[in-house]
Amino acid sequence: MRILISGGAGFIGSHVADACLEAGHRVAVVDSLRTGRRENIPAAAAFHSLDLFSPELAEVFRTFRPEVVCHHAAQVQVGYSLEHPEEDATQNLLSSVRLLEHCRAAGVRKVLYASTVGVYGEPQTLPVAEDHPVDPLSPYAASKHAVEHYLRLYRVNWGLDYTVLRYANVYGPRQDPHGEAGVVAIFTRRLLAGESAVIHGAGEQTRDFVHVEDVARANLLSLERGSAAVLNVGTGVETSVTRLYALLAELTGSAAAALHGPAKAGEIFRIRLDCRHAEKSLGWRATVPLAEGLRRTVEFFRRQADGPG
Ligand SMILES: NC(=O)c1ccc[n+]([C@@H]2O[C@H](COP(=O)([O-])OP(=O)(O)OC[C@H]3O[C@@H](n4cnc5c(N)ncnc54)[C@H](O)[C@@H]3O)[C@@H](O)[C@H]2O)c1
Repeated sequence: MRILISGGAGFIGSHVADACLEAGHRVAVVDSLRTGRRENIPAAAAFHSLDLFSPELAEVFRTFRPEVVCHHAAQVQVGYSLEHPEEDATQNLLSSVRLLEHCRAAGVRKVLYASTVGVYGEPQTLPVAEDHPVDPLSPYAASKHAVEHYLRLYRVNWGLDYTVLRYANVYGPRQDPHGEAGVVAIFTRRLLAGESAVIHGAGEQTRDFVHVEDVARANLLSLERGSAAVLNVGTGVETSVTRLYALLAELTGSAAAALHGPAKAGEIFRIRLDCRHAEKSLGWRATVPLAEGLRRTVEFFRRQADGPG
């Protein structure tokens, strides 16, 4: 199958590219390298260094003729979206509609969309299933959710199929440790450097941490399954940020105590996901336990810190 991956130079998109190539598919990556890195892109993928708004994207669709578009390109910082809601809407909503227009014109069969559990806001009940009310707390979550509506419209009006994958907190190798998001990468880098890291708030807030290889596999299964489905992609396990810090301190051999800073705006207090719908629809469930996933992640960042030699 010919698969075009937007954001394929980024953290999650590059793992999806790896998984698709490994399964024998042809892959083209479109990425502006705004936050992504060229070295993340697998050598076997065709790379187009383009913004989603670039007119040259039409030529990529014309020549590569993707059957499925896997849409991961986005600005992913919640804090940035609160400061620059208009720019966030441009980067996350308008660029997505532009991409969907290319899909429509090129007769793409299906779009896989990287959405977020941020769409639910603060959960009213746990675990959170897909029928939980939507209540985004940030422009980022609102713009990510708005795209889900457009996907439904493109299917109803023009027969473009989709699967929406609402990711929990994704972690693993290649996550940016310098950004605002990605608590596992941020803690790991600092602890490996012998520094302490800042926990925002008391640290009792919980997240559902899912390993990026499990997320890539959910994308792979969605190529053929999950038609018109909205699916949670997580583990169902709730882990507090304090507990995460302790696990990473142990794996990195760090004795540095956590520092505490003010809680962040736009963030929820507790979450864990009900992922039975993804199991039924895709035959998918998370397989990488947190301790093992963190071990692999720490190994990756340790190798990076040690450098190529
Ligand atoms: N990381 C998580 O925990 C998480 C959770 C929920 C949802 N998501 C979603 O998954 C997707 C990937 O996130 P990530 O963590 O890998 O982030 P990332 O920043 O590593 O990847 C995003 C990629 O998109 C590219 N990009 C951004 N805007 C672009 C544009 N206009 N044109 C072309 N390329 C552009 C960037 O250069 C980058 O390579 C995003 O859509 C994000 O909203 C991530």
